[in-house]
Amino acid sequence: MESKLEQSGTATIEGNDFPVYKGTHGNDVVDIRALTKATGKFTFDPGFTSTASCESQITFIDGNEGTLLYRGYPIEQLAENTDFIESAFLLLDGELPTKEQCAKFRHDITYHTMVHEHFIKFFDGFRRDAHPMAIMCGAVGALSAFYHDSTDINDPEARKIAVHRMIAKMPTIAAMAYKYTVGQPFVYPRNDLSYTENFMHMCFSVPAEDYKVDKVLADALDKIFILHMDHEQNASTSTVRLAGSSGANPFACIAAGIACLWGPAHGGANEAALNMLEEIGSVDRIPEYVAKAKDKDDPFRLMGFGHRVYKNYDPRAKVMQKACHEVLEATGIQDPLLDVARELEKIALEDDYFVQKKLYPNIDFYSGITLRALGFPRSMFTPLFALARTVGWIAQWREMLEDPNQKIGRPRQIYTGAAKRDFIAMDKR
Ligand code: SDX
Repeated sequence: MESKLEQSGTATIEGNDFPVYKGTHGNDVVDIRALTKATGKFTFDPGFTSTASCESQITFIDGNEGTLLYRGYPIEQLAENTDFIESAFLLLDGELPTKEQCAKFRHDITYHTMVHEHFIKFFDGFRRDAHPMAIMCGAVGALSAFYHDSTDINDPEARKIAVHRMIAKMPTIAAMAYKYTVGQPFVYPRNDLSYTENFMHMCFSVPAEDYKVDKVLADALDKIFILHMDHEQNASTSTVRLAGSSGANPFACIAAGIACLWGPAHGGANEAALNMLEEIGSVDRIPEYVAKAKDKDDPFRLMGFGHRVYKNYDPRAKVMQKACHEVLEATGIQDPLLDVARELEKIALEDDYFVQKKLYPNIDFYSGITLRALGFPRSMFTPLFALARTVGWIAQWREMLEDPNQKIGRPRQIYTGAAKRDFIAMDKR
C-alpha cells in the first residue's frame, strides 16, 4: 500500500502542534505519534471510539449517512451487480476485475478449495456436539501445520498463495465443521460449481442421492457473503491486524479473527438475534422486550440493533431484508418470526430511546431468518459470517504488512493499581 496521507492542518495540544490529515472521505485525524515525547502524556480511549488505528484504502463507512463503500463502490451496487469472486477481487486488488482477471482469479481460488487429506483427521479430535465456531477456530489455526510454504509473510508470492488458500479453503472448512456436527460424511469441493454453489453443495449434498443447487438460493447466499466481506477496523479485523503486526502467520491471524468474531456483540449477533426473536415469540410480547432493552439495570439488549459506527440504518440490513424476502418466497417458507422482526423494527424505530441513541437494525437483524430459510442451523450463522469476512480480514492483513507506517501494535494504559511497595514476608502478613 502506498501511503496517501496529506496534511491539511495542525492541532495544538498543550502548546505543541500536531499534523492533521484529511482522507478521501470521513473524519480528519490528528497524528499524535509524537504526543508522548512532546507532553509526556498518553491518550485514553477504551474501545478506540475516537481512534484511527491505521490508514486504509479498502472500505469506508459513513455512519451518519448509512453508506458502505468497498474500494469506493457502494455496497448496494456491488451486491446487485457482482458475485463473490468479483467483489473479493475488488477488495484485494482495489479495482473491479476485467473479464480475463476475473476468470483467472476464479480459477486460482477454485483450485485451492481442497484441504490436505491429513487435515481431515484433525476433526476427529472434536466432540460431535462441538459448536462449529469452536471447530473453525481450531481448524483454521491448524492450517499453518499443513501449509508451511505459505507462512513466510515477507515473501510476496507466499503471501499471495496464503491469500488464495485462505479464501478458497474457508468454505470447505466451514462445510466440514457443519457436516461433522450433523454426523454426515465430508463432501469434497467440485471445480465445476461457483464459489457459493460449491459451499452449498459441500454442506447439503449427501452420498445417498444427487443434490442440485437451487440457483435462486445460491445467488441470495452469494449476495449475503458480499455484504459480510469487510467493514473497516471492526473488532475482528483489528484482531487480525494486531496478530499480524507481530509477524504471526496468516492462518494464525485469521484464526484470531474467527475467535473475536464469535462474540455475541459482534459476529455472534446473528445467532443471538434469532434466539431473541424466538424468545419474544409473538408480536404481543414485543413491548415487554423493548422495555427490557431500555432498562439500564437489565443486561438484555435488542440483538441485531445498534452499531458503533452506524448512527443510521445499516445499508447492509436493507439488502439483507430484500434477500430475506427473496429466500422466503423462493422456499415458500412462512416464518412467523419475520412478522415479529418487522413489528419489532417498526416499534423500535418509533421509540424515543432508540431514536435518541440512534439505534437501527444492523446486518445481523434479518440474517438469522434468511440463513435459517436457506437450511442452515443457527450454529452455522457465525461460521458463514467468518467465511465471508475472511476476504476482508486477509485483504486488511496484507494491507497492514505493506503499510510503510506499520509497526507492532502495542497500546499503553493508565495504571491505577497499587503504588510501588516492598515485599512482605509470609509470617508478617
Ligand atoms: C457487528 O464494528 C462493526 O463493524 C461490526 C459489524 C461488522 O460488520 O464487522 O458491523 C458486525 O458486530 C454488528 C453489531 C452486532 N451486535 C449486535 O447487534 C448486538 C447488540 N448491539 C449492541 O451490543 C451494541 O449496539 C454494539 C456492541 C453493536 C455497539 O455498542 P457501542 O458502540 O459500544 O455502543 P454502546 O454499547 O456504548 O451503546 C450506546 C448506548 C448505550 O446506552 P447508554 O449507556 O448510552 O445509556 O446505546 C445502548 C447502550 O445501552 N444500546 C442498546 C443497544 N445497543 C446499544 N440498547 C438496547 N439494545 C441495543 N442493541
